Amino acid sequence: MSKLPLLPHITVILMLLSSYFPLLVSSAKCHKDDKKALLKLFSRPEDLSWSSSTACCSWPGVICTSDTGRVISLDISSVNITGTISPSIGDLPLLFSIDIQYSASLTGTIPYSITKLPLTSLTIRFTSLSGPIPGFLGELKELTNLDLSGNLHTGPIPDSIASLPKLDRLTLFGNKLTGTIPPSLFRGLTSRNLLYLSDNLLTGEIPISLGDADLGYIYLAGNRFTGDASFLFSESKQANEIDLSRNQFEMDMSSLSFPQNLRLLDLSFNRIKGTIPASLARLNDLNSFNVSHNMLCGRIPTGAQMKSFDASCYQHNKCLCGTPLPSCHH
Ligand SMILES: *[C@@H]1O[C@H](CO)[C@@H](O)[C@H](O)[C@H]1NC(C)=O
Ligand SMILES: *[C@@H]1O[C@H](CO)[C@@H](O)[C@H](O)[C@H]1NC(C)=O
Repeated sequence: MSKLPLLPHITVILMLLSSYFPLLVSSAKCHKDDKKALLKLFSRPEDLSWSSSTACCSWPGVICTSDTGRVISLDISSVNITGTISPSIGDLPLLFSIDIQYSASLTGTIPYSITKLPLTSLTIRFTSLSGPIPGFLGELKELTNLDLSGNLHTGPIPDSIASLPKLDRLTLFGNKLTGTIPPSLFRGLTSRNLLYLSDNLLTGEIPISLGDADLGYIYLAGNRFTGDASFLFSESKQANEIDLSRNQFEMDMSSLSFPQNLRLLDLSFNRIKGTIPASLARLNDLNSFNVSHNMLCGRIPTGAQMKSFDASCYQHNKCLCGTPLPSCHH
């Protein structure tokens, strides 16, 4: 006799079971250890509508493997999480991506147990996390993206983070970080990386390694950086966006050449002297440009995108002239 006729019966039994015990079936889609860890993760799981009576893989922000019901990603934004991140975060062994955003009531620091995770991406931004950026994040050797922007972090950028071998996106803007950029940052990486350190209290000269790294996006605005950053510029580089505004960079713009794909260049509020090179007017993709509040002189070049930049982009320099400023006197 074939066993096949049994199958419909099993289906009926399962259907009956699931209608009487719906939780039995759905909770199969949630590894029990992961559920336990998640329920301890924040002091008020109910903030997130995480309820122990449902399967954790169906909770808002929780993404699991479909077969084993293990948590692989947390994606929580615009939830007002009250309290701190518990060390139980380390008890989600397959978690490779954390993205927590816009939670002003989330306080404390990142627990050390996070180093047990196979993280490739860690984003905790616009929260009230405070204290130094933990040096132990340097143990997350697979990390390619680290974003701790808009928190209340103080202290330096740890060397251990700057040395992470695969890190290609580092976003720490809008904290109160001090000290210099570690010279090891992006050393050996040449893949249009992103560095976003604007609006901190960082000081000193920027390391030469940032020139070699051939960054795609460089945002260093609103710090206290000094020195000559001209090594970031050359025709052969790949940068799309460079914002060095509101610092104390001193360099001669006359000698700069520019990455051909440059779309944004903001050098406003620095101590930049010299003239604006004519080669700038050949950048067809440039759509945002500002050199106001420097010490530039001479004729503003014309051509390509230059006519889209108004006088405010050139105001408060030493002696710039020509469209859109008053014409040059001979
Ligand atoms: C979040 O909760 C805190 C404390 O309960 C409250 O002060 C704050 O206004 C809340 N923020 C939002 C965006 O709801
Ligand atoms: C250029 O920068 C100055 C100084 O921050 C600002 O006032 C001006 O509006 C900017 N121009 C444009 C077009 O963004």
